[in-house]
Amino acid sequence: MLYQIFLIGSLLFAFLLLFVVSSSLLGFMLTRVPFVPTRAADIEFIVKKLGITSKDIFYDLGSGNGKVCFIVNKLTGAKCVGFELTWWTYLWAKIKLKFKDQKSKLQFKNQNFFNHNWGEATIIYGYLYPMLMRQVQEKFIADCKPGSRAIIRDFPFPDLKPVEVFYLPQNHEIYVYKV
Ligand SMILES: C[S@@+](CC[C@H](N)C(=O)[O-])C[C@H]1O[C@@H](n2cnc3c(N)ncnc32)[C@H](O)[C@@H]1O
Repeated sequence: MLYQIFLIGSLLFAFLLLFVVSSSLLGFMLTRVPFVPTRAADIEFIVKKLGITSKDIFYDLGSGNGKVCFIVNKLTGAKCVGFELTWWTYLWAKIKLKFKDQKSKLQFKNQNFFNHNWGEATIIYGYLYPMLMRQVQEKFIADCKPGSRAIIRDFPFPDLKPVEVFYLPQNHEIYVYKV
């Protein structure tokens, strides 16, 4: 009996590991951006510094495990939408959402964020990679309404001039842009 439980447990663990590794690899092949989460303290700092409120609609471009959206929504009550292509991190966010009381104003989409119109968002957040930033910049200008802000971590837009630049407690840079 003990042997069977051990065998089933090991098989489940092996499947989970295979799923995480293969979906990470596939996600990386699709996006070329690894999953590296923003620290909770950094998200709190950004929320306070930029005065995000319940009136904002916040898009996390590449939302990973959903941490940024969960914290922004919890601290401000803003509607938050996370887009993520890598399955395991997307599923992680969806599972967490099942156990939280934040369902009405939080959404996670297993979707390429370039295939969605960002016109609704008042704030977009991007912790991405340099080679993507021109495309993100162009979509920000094309889709977002005047007054909307882009909060970009570490890898700035190539052509737009930021309205504000500041450092997070652990020295990462935040660039703020307005349409
Ligand atoms: C550096 S992680 C940041 C995760 C999260 N925003 C955070 O700060 O904790 C970037 C994520 O963006 C995702 N990603 C990159 N390009 C994407 C795209 N075009 N559509 C959806 N997700 C994308 C990657 O899979 C990765 O999980």
